[in-house]
Amino acid sequence: MANQKGGVGKTTTTVNIAAGLAQSGLRVLVIDNDPQGNASTALGLEHRAGTPSIYEVLVEDEPLENTVQACPTVPGLYGVPATIDLSGAEIELVSLVSRETRLRRALDTYLARREERGEERIDYVLVDCPPSLGLLTVNAFVVGREVLIPIQCEYYALEGLSQLLKTIELIKAHLNPQLRVSTILLTMYDGRTNLAQQVATEVRDHFPDQTLRTTVPRSVRISEAPSHAQTVMTYDPGSTGSLAYLEAARELAERAPQRAEQG
Ligand SMILES: Nc1ncnc2c1ncn2[C@@H]1O[C@H](COP(=O)(O)OP(=O)(O)O)[C@@H](O)[C@H]1O
Ligand SMILES: [Mg+2]
Repeated sequence: MANQKGGVGKTTTTVNIAAGLAQSGLRVLVIDNDPQGNASTALGLEHRAGTPSIYEVLVEDEPLENTVQACPTVPGLYGVPATIDLSGAEIELVSLVSRETRLRRALDTYLARREERGEERIDYVLVDCPPSLGLLTVNAFVVGREVLIPIQCEYYALEGLSQLLKTIELIKAHLNPQLRVSTILLTMYDGRTNLAQQVATEVRDHFPDQTLRTTVPRSVRISEAPSHAQTVMTYDPGSTGSLAYLEAARELAERAPQRAEQG
C-alpha cells in the first residue's frame, strides 16, 4: 500500500481491506512498515517501545515469526507491529548489507518455515508504507508483487503520482521484475462535490484497468474506529465505510486470478 503523500488513506485502506479479506475466510498478515504505527493501533496490536517489531526484523535480523501477533478482534488476521524505534531505521538501514531486500528475505524465510511445519497458508500479506519513497518503502516494493495506491479525491490528488510510478519502474527494472501497480482505490470520496467527481473521472481515465469500481466514501465511523483499537469492519460493520471496504476487498480478491495471468 503506497503513496508518498501522507493522509491519503494508506493505513485505513490496509487495515480495513485486510480485515475484509480475513472476515471472508482468508488468512491475512499486515506488516506495519510506518514508524507512526497507525496500522498497529487500528489492529489492536501491542506496539509499546521494546515490543518485538518490524524494526528488529529489518535492522537486527530478528525472525519475522517472533514479531507476529494475532489481531484480537478479527480471526485469521495477524500483524507485525511498528514501534517508535522504526523512526531511526531509514538512516540505520543505509549502512546495512542488502538494505533493499531485508524485508523480502525475512518474509520468504517466515513463509517457508510455516510451510515446512505444515501450518496453514497465508493468503495475503499487506504492507503499510510510510509517506515517503525511502528505504522502508523500497523494502516493501521489493517484497511485493502488486502495489495498491490509495488516492484521495481532492485537488492535488494526482500530484506526485508520476514520481511514485517512476520509482516503481526503477524497482521493477533492478530489484523486483514482478512488481506492478495492480490496483488504485479512490478514498474519502464525497459524491456531493464536483471536485471529487472530477478527480474520480480523471483517475479512471488514466488508470481504467487498475481503478476499483468501489470508492470509499468519507465517513466519520472510519476515522473513529482506530481510537477504539479496531478497524471499521468490527467497530461498525453496517456503516457505509465498512461496506465499501468489504466490497473493495471482494473486488481485489475476485480480480486476483486475472492479475496473476497478466503478471
Ligand atoms: N474514508 C474516510 N473517511 C473519513 N476519514 C478517513 C477516511 N479514510 C481515512 N480517513 C482519516 O484520514 C486520516 C488519514 O488517513 P490514513 O489512512 O492515516 O492515511 P495515510 O496512511 O495515507 O497517512 C486519518 O485520520 C483517517 O482516520
Ligand atoms: Mg499511514
